[in-house]
Amino acid sequence: MIKNPKYRELIEQTFDFPQKDFKTEKGFLQWNGLPLMEIIEKYGSPLRITYLPKISQQIQKARRLFNSSIANNDYRGDYNYCYCTKSSHFSFVLEEALKNKVFIETSSAFDFDIIKRLEEKKKIKKDGIIICNGFKPQKYIDNILDAFKNGYKNIIPILDNLDELEKFQGITEPMNIGMRIAAEEEPKYEFYTSRLGIRYNDIVPFYQAKIQNSPNFKLKMLHFFIDTGIKDVNYYWTEFHKALEVYCDLKKICPELTAINLGGGMPIKHSLAADFDYEYMINEIVTQIKTTCNNENVDEPDIFTEFGSYTVGESGAVIFGVLGVKRQNDRETWYMLDGSLMNNLPDIWGLSQRFIMLPINKWEDDYKHVNLGGITCDVGDYYNSDAHINQVYLPKIKQGDKLYIGFFNTGAYQDTLSGYGGIKHCLLPSPPHILIDEKKKGEFVYKVFAEEQTAESMMKILGY
Ligand SMILES: Cc1ncc(COP(=O)(O)O)c(C=O)c1O
Repeated sequence: MIKNPKYRELIEQTFDFPQKDFKTEKGFLQWNGLPLMEIIEKYGSPLRITYLPKISQQIQKARRLFNSSIANNDYRGDYNYCYCTKSSHFSFVLEEALKNKVFIETSSAFDFDIIKRLEEKKKIKKDGIIICNGFKPQKYIDNILDAFKNGYKNIIPILDNLDELEKFQGITEPMNIGMRIAAEEEPKYEFYTSRLGIRYNDIVPFYQAKIQNSPNFKLKMLHFFIDTGIKDVNYYWTEFHKALEVYCDLKKICPELTAINLGGGMPIKHSLAADFDYEYMINEIVTQIKTTCNNENVDEPDIFTEFGSYTVGESGAVIFGVLGVKRQNDRETWYMLDGSLMNNLPDIWGLSQRFIMLPINKWEDDYKHVNLGGITCDVGDYYNSDAHINQVYLPKIKQGDKLYIGFFNTGAYQDTLSGYGGIKHCLLPSPPHILIDEKKKGEFVYKVFAEEQTAESMMKILGY
């Protein structure tokens, strides 16, 4: 008789598995070496996990790759890693990132409240670089100016539009500034040009008219960010070279310009099949900047990045238990989760984002084609296709069995978009959140960052 294949065999046949971050032991999944089943037994489900060491590992990896490419290519500029706070504002994320002496990129007036708290805890120093992006309301401008007056001399507001410079007038000592180039959008977009930043053709004339002879401002940085991410595709390189041309044109008339900022967009792993070649891509970026600058006879700039997802994405996971199985017709089986995908991982619902989704237990069991249903009553609260295949396969559940499922590398943007700790669809609570550190290899330290959200907290928000 032919034996039914096991879930583990399906994964081993489909991917190169086990991998560095994902492996199984005795039929249970481990992520970054973490014994996930034991964690579930201790803390229950649904559950949010942050594995803190991953944040430092990511920062160190990017730095190592940029610095070695800089050294190998005899590139005469530095690499500077900034953390984009909007991807996760949590204190534990910033504190972990700051252990690696990263700089900060802000997007809101309220980032300065975070900076103040970090300064009080002596986690951040006033001589660090702070890059301020975004279209800036008055409160954001005021907070930037206050920080500058209070000693944050390396703050760099990046002008998002031609009117913003005026709002910074009134400073009494020269301030470094940057300008963001508005990239042309990918052809599939509804818009030709990004609404963020200043049009290519306006950059040099604006510099000449408003900044070149101003005693107050020094143009230090040219910023560009391709929202669709850093990818080895024609579109990316076309926009990249347009930005480099502007950099070279400006540099010829603006000696203070010393930095180019590539923004965020470094990809992370959303599938076990992902094989992004970080080393190749970073080396291409460094060599292409060098070649262009050498051809144009201008000095190579210092390179800045503001990686958000890349810094924090791979540190997060969300775990659900399967509450029950529903067979709705002869083809569709639903595994009903004990939490909501829409509430906890809103990119699944809003962007059709795929994450790495794997069972935690039952790897030695047979598998079947299923749909995952969130527990809200919203028709859109479901997950039915993985990144590599338009379907979801999971171990079969027999009477009395309990199956747990993890969504991995979910650490960026999901908490912010879901309004962590706020009011969510069908009044479901924010799940408990566990922070995990690693003292030495395999010796994990657990800390409950937040218990499950209480009814009291919801009633207060709702005014009862
Ligand atoms: C200006 C800027 N920098 C950096 C980032 C971070 O992007 P990512 O999370 O893709 O690295 C963003 C994201 O929207 C951004 O707008």
